[in-house]
Amino acid sequence: MRVLVIGSGAREHALVLALSHDPAVTALACAPGNAGIAALAETPGVDVGDAAAVAELATSWRADLVVVGPEIPLVAGAADAIRAAGVPCFGPSRAAARIEGSKAFAKDVMTAAGVPTAHSEVVDNPARLDAALSRFGAPYVVKDDGLAAGKGVVVTSDLDAARAHAMGLLDDGHPVLLESFLDGPEASLFCLVDGGTVVPLLPAQDFKRVGDGDSGPNTGGMGAYAPLPWAPGDLVDDVVRRVVQPTVDELARRGTPFTGLLYAGLALTSRGPQVIEFNCRFGDPETQAVLALLRTPIAGLLLATATGRLIEHPPLEWAEGAAVTVVVAAEGYPGRPRTGDVIAGSEADGVLHAGTRRREDGAVVSAGGRVLSVVGVGDDLEAAREDVYRRIANVHLTGSHHRTDIALRAVRGEITVPSPQEA
Ligand code: AMP
Ligand code: GLY
Repeated sequence: MRVLVIGSGAREHALVLALSHDPAVTALACAPGNAGIAALAETPGVDVGDAAAVAELATSWRADLVVVGPEIPLVAGAADAIRAAGVPCFGPSRAAARIEGSKAFAKDVMTAAGVPTAHSEVVDNPARLDAALSRFGAPYVVKDDGLAAGKGVVVTSDLDAARAHAMGLLDDGHPVLLESFLDGPEASLFCLVDGGTVVPLLPAQDFKRVGDGDSGPNTGGMGAYAPLPWAPGDLVDDVVRRVVQPTVDELARRGTPFTGLLYAGLALTSRGPQVIEFNCRFGDPETQAVLALLRTPIAGLLLATATGRLIEHPPLEWAEGAAVTVVVAAEGYPGRPRTGDVIAGSEADGVLHAGTRRREDGAVVSAGGRVLSVVGVGDDLEAAREDVYRRIANVHLTGSHHRTDIALRAVRGEITVPSPQEA
């Protein structure tokens, strides 16, 4: 099978690595890829936001399967164009990708499907903002109603900060979504979806704030681990039954079936799991941890998803133990990252590349905000944490920073799901 992956981050590096281990894969490409991916796959250039160009590459490279990593090509209609060219595609249509591309659309689907989520209101007129904020009360949750790579959200008890963020969005012509605050730990559940059938992967947790102890601004994600030792045993079944399957069924009912990976971002509250957001693709960095534990060959699994044959696929096999990934970010991230610095140790096992490129002299240099995702595995979460931080100690990038507390509270047993009585 000739498999083409679209994207250039550590999520795509993790997908390419898993595909490279699958004997069914005879040729592998990742466009545009990065310096780490280039060691495993061809890396043709492509503008990922240009759906026609992505489909043209799928055809000219003679792909048997295209796996689209990021949301940008999906929201731009890349999967529609690839399928129209006759090539199976792992990734939703533009219409189904709106589950991520528009938070208002996602809320509408959830309401129709009876899926538990925060109460919300769209504000598009500054004159209505103050009254809306006072209806919600603190803590305020203020979101950009569109793609913002996790950076468009402000959660604050400070009314002036909430108002300032909302006014900034409105001034830029972006409608604002206000939400009620959800308490409880967060979890990410990835599900393979072939239009109707849902196959969940291991649950994971990601760390969105830049600094230890969840300090500082939101980022695209600074680390993740899987599975969740603190989660109730029936969490995955419960979320599939109450959240994912009803959403998939509602999208199919609307004539826009979802194919690919549906990512449920959840808060595990005293009233049960509630949806914070849906994404229409694998999450980054959770994928780097989840795929490190998947033993089932991935090419056939993704092809079965893309072609509506998930129901025929045997149950997934997972390694025992746990995986932890830690993102190494460039100086300045999530603001303006410093780039062009030489990275030492970037070719070691367990080091996945995100913002990297190979310079003409052969050196691997930083080329983005999130530069590497280092992955560790172990018999349990504590061992996986030790493994990942041991690997990170061998990576050097001037000015870089990473969190030192990924999965730490879980190892210490400090994460609990609020019980209904505490509500
Ligand atoms: P989003 O871009 O919607 O995933 O939001 C980014 C982050 O903001 C989430 O991972 C949560 O930590 C936080 N957040 C978003 N919505 C809420 C909410 N309704 N209540 C509490 N925290 C939230
Ligand atoms: N891990 C967050 C995201 O992929 O959006």
